[in-house]
Amino acid sequence: MLKTLDSDGLGQLFDLTGRVVLMAGGAGYLGTPTSEALARHGARVIIADKRPDAANATVELLRSRRLQAETVFVDFGEESSIHDAVEQVRTRHGRLDVAINAAAYSTCKSMEQMTASEWEAGLRVSLTGAFVFAREAGRVMVEQGGGSIIQFGSMYGMVSPDPRVYEPPMFVNPVDYGAAKAGILQLVRYQAVMWGPKKVRVNAIVPGPFPNSAKEMNDSAFQGRLAHKVPMGRVGKSSEIAGAAVFLASDASSYVTGTQIVIDGGWTAW
Ligand SMILES: NC(=O)c1ccc[n+]([C@@H]2O[C@H](COP(=O)([O-])OP(=O)(O)OC[C@H]3O[C@@H](n4cnc5c(N)ncnc54)[C@H](O)[C@@H]3O)[C@@H](O)[C@H]2O)c1
Repeated sequence: MLKTLDSDGLGQLFDLTGRVVLMAGGAGYLGTPTSEALARHGARVIIADKRPDAANATVELLRSRRLQAETVFVDFGEESSIHDAVEQVRTRHGRLDVAINAAAYSTCKSMEQMTASEWEAGLRVSLTGAFVFAREAGRVMVEQGGGSIIQFGSMYGMVSPDPRVYEPPMFVNPVDYGAAKAGILQLVRYQAVMWGPKKVRVNAIVPGPFPNSAKEMNDSAFQGRLAHKVPMGRVGKSSEIAGAAVFLASDASSYVTGTQIVIDGGWTAW
């Protein structure tokens, strides 16, 4: 029998009405527009960040647009803090439908200058934090019968930074960062396989060049070097991550798990 669009739910594929979304690093450059896009599709977004002022500002921005948003504190360097943040969401809302991690940290030292403890500090937030966050969120999702976990990787978890683009000490793309991001891609595959039968989907969003600091944004030579590496000839706009997040959070991706969506203007294609 020919089904109508609505009988298959195809009319509401991207609808997030009633979904509870925990967005770690949600106060950041990519996290803020991503949070807004999710809320615009109907989600209640909980901005989890280490910077309470920035998290509050993001929530105020979303609320000023009549969107549902709130904050919860989290420090990805502390296992108990991640546990507490997830538990707070469960206590407040009784469920957690989507957990997104866009938090990352590095001391940004050059490889020669980075100590083992600085390397470990980066991995602790960017990789161990990602693992603990997904473990805690996944536990709730397994109990409730499903959910979607989305980790922010990086193209530098797939390819190395080109040293001709980065000129230390002004611009360093640190070694611990790429190692953590490569680890995230495998973490995603592992958890997707383990939790597939439990209806918990796990995927990665892999951004390419999205210069996010004033230093990066105001340096036209640096921007030019980045753009030269991109088949599309430009760096990304922060809003260009949001579509993938809405897709992976929603039923539009109901058969997608254990993979990554690369948003890099083609950087890794040549
Ligand atoms: N901007 C880019 O070009 C780019 C490229 C590839 C990947 N990414 C990844 O995308 C994600 C978001 O990047 P962004 O450009 O928005 O960065 P950002 O620095 O603007 O945002 C990161 C957010 O994470 C928060 N954070 C940092 N340490 C934390 C901790 N210990 N606990 C809790 N929160 C913490 C920060 O307060 C900040 O709000 C990151 O995972 C980043 O590695 C970004």
